[in-house]
Amino acid sequence: MSKPHTLPPVKPTLLLILLAAACLSSCGQKPSQSASTGNEAKPGKKIVVGFSQIGAESAWRTAETESIRSEAEKRGIKLNFSDAQQNQQNQIRALRTFLAQNVDAIILAPVVETGWEPALREIKKANIPVILVDRGIKVSDESLYTTLIASDFVNEGRLAAEWLGKRLNGKGNVVELQGTPGAAPAIDRKKGFEEGLAKFPEIKIVKSQSGDFNRAKGKEVMEAFLKAEGKNINALYAHNDDMALGAIQAIEEAGLKPGTDLIIVSIDGVKGAFDAMVAGKLNCTVECNPLLGPAAFDAIEAVLAGKSVPKKTVVKDEVFDQSIAKDVIASRKY
Ligand code: AHR
Repeated sequence: MSKPHTLPPVKPTLLLILLAAACLSSCGQKPSQSASTGNEAKPGKKIVVGFSQIGAESAWRTAETESIRSEAEKRGIKLNFSDAQQNQQNQIRALRTFLAQNVDAIILAPVVETGWEPALREIKKANIPVILVDRGIKVSDESLYTTLIASDFVNEGRLAAEWLGKRLNGKGNVVELQGTPGAAPAIDRKKGFEEGLAKFPEIKIVKSQSGDFNRAKGKEVMEAFLKAEGKNINALYAHNDDMALGAIQAIEEAGLKPGTDLIIVSIDGVKGAFDAMVAGKLNCTVECNPLLGPAAFDAIEAVLAGKSVPKKTVVKDEVFDQSIAKDVIASRKY
């Protein structure tokens, strides 16, 4: 009987050399990254994008995640998704992981405005474009990100104030539920609201506190507002619908009628807000469109094709109040 063929044993040193050679050919830097714009994708290669999402604090956020996930799938782009659970350090870790994975582009929805420079500098060195979605950041060097696609949060605050000022006939006490401290929409929506209220000197903000953009915290803070101010409150301004929906529960539990005893205006325009308007419990929502997937991937594909993109794209938003809620609810996409 002939002996079966066996391969000679590979020496450990040779094995190391073979492994190193294989790694050099398959795990090396993107060779085209440093040429021309430095971001071009290789023809035929599947694009890989890292997406660092803030979390799932609101219906708005879930709609944004879904928009980005489904758009990636539609375009055959591989999405490496990371949920930071509201924590900036988790987002920074995710950015560094995407860098180590040598992704083609990064989508970042930044939880707060500051503290991004060190990580973004490392990413810039590797020529990986960073697309900011929904929230802006404060950096000394704007070239640390490629483009920002977001709503005008200051304007949203202004629109809410103008609507409320008219609804209160220029007079009343307002409580404010702010978003996450340090987040662009919390800072800007407060600023815009105060600017808008300047036209109504007899409207006062009597209490203002963060409800962290989520329903449970919105309810908890509203309970405290009601304890402190009781029937002295004429209106609530919430930086997002989820906090308003939590507050509505607190108002009902306090034996008051939301939407009647207290006028409520919030921001986002999610389905739950339209349901509450139809039920007469919420008076107005200022839209903030979360369906950013198509614009984000248009930008990525343009950059990877060597084209330039605008530094900022402002998403258009509308005001919806109770009077039209019934007519438009069926056409809402999120
Ligand atoms: O950054 C957008 C805001 O963040 C939305 O208004 C809010 O619902 C979300 O959590």
